Amino acid sequence: MWPRRTTESRDVTDVNRVYVTRQIPQSALDRLEGVVEYSVNPHDRVLERDELLEAVRDIDGLLSLLTDDIDAEVFDAAPDLKIVANYAVGYNNIDVAEATRRGILVTNTPGVLTETTADLTWALIMAITRRVVEGDRFMRAGRYVGWAPMLLLGSDVYGKTLGIIGMGKIGQAVARRAIGFDMQILYQDMFLDLPEVAEHLLDADEVDLHEVLRRSDIVTLHVPLTDETHHMIGMRELELLGPNGYLINASRGPVVDEVALIEALREGVIKGAALDVFEDEPEMKPGLAELDNVVLLPHLGSATIETRTAMGDLAVDNLLAFFAGEEPPTPVNPEVLKA
Ligand code: GLV
Ligand code: GLV
Repeated sequence: MWPRRTTESRDVTDVNRVYVTRQIPQSALDRLEGVVEYSVNPHDRVLERDELLEAVRDIDGLLSLLTDDIDAEVFDAAPDLKIVANYAVGYNNIDVAEATRRGILVTNTPGVLTETTADLTWALIMAITRRVVEGDRFMRAGRYVGWAPMLLLGSDVYGKTLGIIGMGKIGQAVARRAIGFDMQILYQDMFLDLPEVAEHLLDADEVDLHEVLRRSDIVTLHVPLTDETHHMIGMRELELLGPNGYLINASRGPVVDEVALIEALREGVIKGAALDVFEDEPEMKPGLAELDNVVLLPHLGSATIETRTAMGDLAVDNLLAFFAGEEPPTPVNPEVLKA
């Protein structure tokens, strides 16, 4: 930690200070060297609240993760803070309205994790429909005694209907991969209409949420977490998806009512689910882990060496541009820059 200094004692020649709330790929952090002073959470865990509040006291910039709650209390503890560079595309962990009110810029990492997250979404789709994880457990348990006509039968993916809720960059990247599986695509997006040419190329039709659920064999969620998308999928929606339907979630846990989902999986209201995110992450609601018709991953959507490095570079690009007085590449609240 740096020695405590008051804001008044600082002059324009002072070097900017950045705190990084968890070790990220070092090659990105190396680029801060000599430009800003930075320090990194030395523990291999999320900071406790009081540690975070202490760490931000004298900083000008914060590199935060989706596991850090960045809100008014943090801003109060960091009177010099000017920029929060979130190491994620989602920024529901940050009170952006409050940051904007205080003139603090927030940036995120869109684009660089789009394809990687779409790949992982497909890993989930294939794993649940073709019972890949169950099969692996079966082998390891020594239960395989020979090919059998009725062993671990799953459901076809090719030629089926894929429902995409949230047709942003990630949703579209998932859709592009579905072309190779000869799938029909239905989508719903609160904010965006695909241009007709994209709909044509992707063989995608926009319908309302309930129709997506009713008509799709597999529904995958790619919305940000907001007040509007919180519990967007509850029992009523799962009933529409129906007993042959699969739900895939690699967006944010609270988009799904996890208690309702567990009941639906247990009662056969839907056939299966594959989840990369959880409502009370890292916790799971009771009963989820006991079910066979669900695949569970620890939020690995963007977890490749290439993409985590690119996310670090983009977060650092945002910090470096901001401190150089240039326009950061991916601001969330660009209005702060114009004020
Ligand atoms: C990961 O979940 C992200 O938002 O980048
Ligand atoms: C990802 O980059 C997205 O914005 O969907």
